[in-house]
Amino acid sequence: MCGIVGYIGKNKNAQQILLDGLHRLEYRGYDSAGLCVISGKKCKTFRAVGKVSALEAKIGEKDLAAKIGIAHTRWATHGKPSVVNAHPHNCGKIHLVHNGIIENYAQLKEALIAKGHIFSSETDSEVVAHLIDEANGSSRSFEESVQDALAQIRGAYALVVMHEDEPEKLIAVRNSSPLVIGVGRDEFIVASDASAIITHTDRVLYLDDGEMIVLTADDHRITNFQGKLRNKKEHVLDWNESEAQKEGYAHFMLKEIFEQPHAVEDAMRGRVIIKEGLARLGGLSAVEKKIRSINRIVIVSCGTSYHAGLVGEYMLEEYAGIPTEVEYASEFRYRKPLIDKRTAVIAISQSGETADTRAAIREAKNKGALTLGIINAVGSTIARETDAGVYNHAGPEISVASTKAFTSQLTILTLFTVYMGRQRDMSMTMGRRILTELRALPHKIEEIFTQEKHIKKIAKKYSSVQSMFYLGRKYNYPIALEGAIKIKEISYIHAEGYASGEMKHGPIALIDKNFPSIVIAPCDSVYEKTLSAIAEIRARSGKVVVITTSDATEAIKIADDVIIVPKTLEMLMPLLTVVPLQILAYYAGVTRGYDVDKPRNLAKSVTVE
Ligand code: G6P
Repeated sequence: MCGIVGYIGKNKNAQQILLDGLHRLEYRGYDSAGLCVISGKKCKTFRAVGKVSALEAKIGEKDLAAKIGIAHTRWATHGKPSVVNAHPHNCGKIHLVHNGIIENYAQLKEALIAKGHIFSSETDSEVVAHLIDEANGSSRSFEESVQDALAQIRGAYALVVMHEDEPEKLIAVRNSSPLVIGVGRDEFIVASDASAIITHTDRVLYLDDGEMIVLTADDHRITNFQGKLRNKKEHVLDWNESEAQKEGYAHFMLKEIFEQPHAVEDAMRGRVIIKEGLARLGGLSAVEKKIRSINRIVIVSCGTSYHAGLVGEYMLEEYAGIPTEVEYASEFRYRKPLIDKRTAVIAISQSGETADTRAAIREAKNKGALTLGIINAVGSTIARETDAGVYNHAGPEISVASTKAFTSQLTILTLFTVYMGRQRDMSMTMGRRILTELRALPHKIEEIFTQEKHIKKIAKKYSSVQSMFYLGRKYNYPIALEGAIKIKEISYIHAEGYASGEMKHGPIALIDKNFPSIVIAPCDSVYEKTLSAIAEIRARSGKVVVITTSDATEAIKIADDVIIVPKTLEMLMPLLTVVPLQILAYYAGVTRGYDVDKPRNLAKSVTVE
């Protein structure tokens, strides 16, 4: 949801660092991009509609010779994608980039216009530049002017601000939108997330909401919005640079699909004690006592993470015996959820920055619940705001469509189920069984990769359809939802995920020879029921692709196309069945000629509500 970068240093070329940062943050938004540097005492601004490459083309070969600058890649909220709406925005000598939403911008804009300000964009962000300029004009210092503006705006924002007359200073502020400060030698790089920083330094400072940092090339000062000094500890990033590169794959999505055996392995590393049938989750040790007393779990999440939560619900209820509900985070906060001290509210989030999930966790905290996180991005906002949690350690996920984060989340949910179950009624034998099967999964996922070409062919065969169903039952119902969202995101084919038993209650009316169904039908406890759904579709001339296991003879026989996955415990099957669906969506998108890493209208990290 918009990516911002700021740079100040003594020796390096700001232009290159900013553009490189934008490329790495492009997954956050890509409808327009812009950059502004101060060279001498002059600001040079470039903006372009489209991706960062369009901005680069506009700058051309010019060396802007600057040591300070700001840059932005946009995901439009207020105002359509256009050059005038692209950031950086300015008013007089104030230039800034913004990620978030200024909720009261309309009133502020009106008041500023009445004072004679002239606006050049439709954005909410430009208002902030005018507010700072207004304060600066009444002889407030640069810092004080920023503080004055902050006192007037409401909403979510991360801002990086420059003043043309003070080229030795960069100011960044944060309130409900992510911002990380990379600390180098005689340089600082400010960015929406660490992927834009990791090539320069692994030393970072995390700003909290309500904090502002004033940077010079070799010094920094953090305060609250009223100017009161804040002390911050530096952190060291645990990502390495190669993890943020494509490494020969055509797309990040494909690379991340193929990284899943590692992601699953890394999620369980050091956390499995087979002998005792136990899961060790160090991140929960501080709240272990509290966890023992909880009698209900509510999982809050969005998108793909929500689907992981649904699988978690089935696991936790079946094996740990704890009543569990899963809610869209965006719904949770606006109704009246019944939660108390004995409820654990778990946020599942790859980015740890999703605004709806964060708001849901705040609501849960206010109601006295224990809040936990299953988060991939270390040091992210939700990771810091929950009482305790478990990190995925899946490494950076760059492709907008989530893949390895999902299987990694399922791995953590399995460990959490064993952890909770063993505190309650789960036997050591059952704990051992689940963990032994879990450990075998990375290898089984690799086995699925041997069918890549076969799945690609199926993807091509169905890539021109207009609509399709994804069906599954019990543990594979959430996978049907996930398969459908994946193909929608990447190939723009309309797809609906359904519980296969629900087919007969309406959706089946749509079936004809042009409306195919992908049915997840491994030989499990609901296999025969799913077979009936397949038969009903076939009887209406609907084409069927089944994702199944090699012992499912009947399903294999009646389907038009078959993808076989290895066998495992029923509860772990989603970690296998989802993989061919990811590959299928990927190749359908590629066949239709789309940029699968950056699907239209989407953003990786949705930091607005
Ligand atoms: C966006 C992404 C999805 C993701 C969802 C939740 O919509 O496009 O891929 O699943 O946000 O993100 P989170 O970071 O909270 O898991």
